[in-house]
Formats: sequence, C-alpha cells, structure tokens
Amino acid sequence: MAFASKLIAWQRRHGRRGLPWQGTRDPYRVWLSEIMLQQTQVAAVIPYYERFLARFPTVRALAAAPQDEVLALWSGLGYYARARNLHAAAKLVAEQGFPAGAAALERLPGVGRSTAAAIAAFAYGERVAILDGNVKRVLARHFGVEGEKAQWALAGRLLPARGIETYTQALMDLGATVCVRAAPRCGECPLARDCHARREDRVDQLPSRRGRGPVPERKATWHIVRCNGEVLLERRAARGLWGGLWVFPETRPTRQKGRALEPFEHGFTHFRLRVRPILYDVKKRPDGGWWVPIEDALAGAVPAPVRKVLKALPAARR
Ligand code: ADE
Repeated sequence: MAFASKLIAWQRRHGRRGLPWQGTRDPYRVWLSEIMLQQTQVAAVIPYYERFLARFPTVRALAAAPQDEVLALWSGLGYYARARNLHAAAKLVAEQGFPAGAAALERLPGVGRSTAAAIAAFAYGERVAILDGNVKRVLARHFGVEGEKAQWALAGRLLPARGIETYTQALMDLGATVCVRAAPRCGECPLARDCHARREDRVDQLPSRRGRGPVPERKATWHIVRCNGEVLLERRAARGLWGGLWVFPETRPTRQKGRALEPFEHGFTHFRLRVRPILYDVKKRPDGGWWVPIEDALAGAVPAPVRKVLKALPAARR
C-alpha cells in the first residue's frame, strides 16, 4: 500500500476525531481553527476556539468587533500577530467573501502556504499539500528528505487521488501524536516498516537541527503602580511583540524603591524574557496615564504573564 493509503486507513482507526472544528466545511470555522492551531496544541486551542465562535459566530461579526475585544479573547493563546492578522483578514473577507482556493487564501494576512492548503483541503476538498512543522518532521524521518524546496515537492507527489481531507488530518495527527519530536512511538506508526530513519537507526537525529543555539535572554523591569484597586497600564505599539496588548510600564533593569515581587521567566520562540516586577502602592493617583480596574484588566487584552502577575498581587499596603 502506498504512503497516502496507509495514512488514510490509520486515520480512520487511530486519528483524532470529534474535535470541534471537524465535521464542518464552513471556511470561517476551518480558517479560525487553522490559525489558532499554528504553533499551538489542540488541547490548548479547544476552549479558545469555542469562546471565540460563541462571541463571533460569523466572519462579519468578527470584522465588526473592536480589536481590543478580539485580543481579549485571544489573551493567553500567544502569538498575537495571529489575532491581529485574523481581524484584518476578516474585514477583507466580510467585504469580498472567502477566497475560493488555496492560492487565493494565501493572500489573506496571516495565511501562509501550508495554512492556505489546510483550509482549502478541509473546507473545499482541494487537493493541495500542507507542510507545517509536524509534517516536515514526518517527511524528514520517513524519506530522509530535508529542506523546504525538496519537501514541498515531495509533499505534492504524495497526495492521494481521493480523500484529501482524511489524508491531511492523518498527516497532522501522525506528526502530533506518533512521530513526535522526542521519544516517537514508532511501535504505533503505520509507516514504520518503510521508514528511512528507522532503517538507518537515525530517528533521534532526524530532522537535523540547524543553528539551534541556546536562546538569548532579555531582561525587563515591570512597574506595577497600584491605587485603589486600579493599575497603571500601557498599550503596546500595534506591531511587534504583544502588539496592541495591555502591559505594565516596562523599563530596562533598574533599581527601584518599590516592593520587589517574585521574578519570573517567560519563554518565547526566539528568546527568554526575564522579568522583575516591582509594586508601588500609591495613595494618590498621579494625573495622566491609563488607570484600569484590576478586574477589567484581567478580562482584557493582556498577555499571559501580565495576567499571572495581576492574579498574584499581594493585598495593598496602606
Ligand atoms: N494542527 C494544525 N491543524 C490541525 C488540525 N486541523 N487538527 C489538528 N491539529 C492541527
């Protein structure tokens, strides 16, 4: 049996079923799920997906929403450029309708080649190849083929004549549940018999790691100014890390007179952020600045570490 047929047969018995975005061909739902699932595991996505759809059941509802509300519903899911791009794309789609195929989908903000293909396969049954991080690992191991260009070509040649939806889901599921990065479960793999990496005893070495040095560390001091149950927040610039989100005023590491809270680290893909939070309880609110009740901040467009700090704030000293 060929690669695709084995995968399709495996998916029917062992693949993931009953996920909330399966069993629909609504391009809005499929698109939303594929954006949320970029770099993010299924279990983390499910509650976000359901809340998001309850609030924005259609692409028009999403297009009409203020960005703060979109970011608030994304709060904690990370990679916030996804939410900003999703919102921008919704405005285009609300006016022009959904692009009708993978090539056109790829022109939407935030939709790369693999995501466009996944949406087109699931929503339209279009016969196109995906190549996300999981699939790259499967192909590197199974065929010993690495490199973007060669892998795209290979992925295209492997496509089945029929059943693109099941095949696409199978590849994703195999990469996420069996052919995982560390300690893959080759005993459960439907393709193990023909696997290049197994034959060569190189499962641990494939895919080869290029230039993955230690991640650099950045340091920041967060200034948490509190008064009467409110905190001073800032909105970050529209682009870049945490763009558009609400954060505490941040400086390079400095010594301060406030009360030092527990330092912590937050990991990003390309660096670690080492945060020293400092709390200042002030009796009189200085003029100016954006003061937000802590309850509102917790429900707002804050990144996960800001939420964590807000939740752990000690009782105010008077
Ligand atoms: N990762 C990316 N897309 C996915 C999907 N549709 N199902 C499960 N995992 C995924």
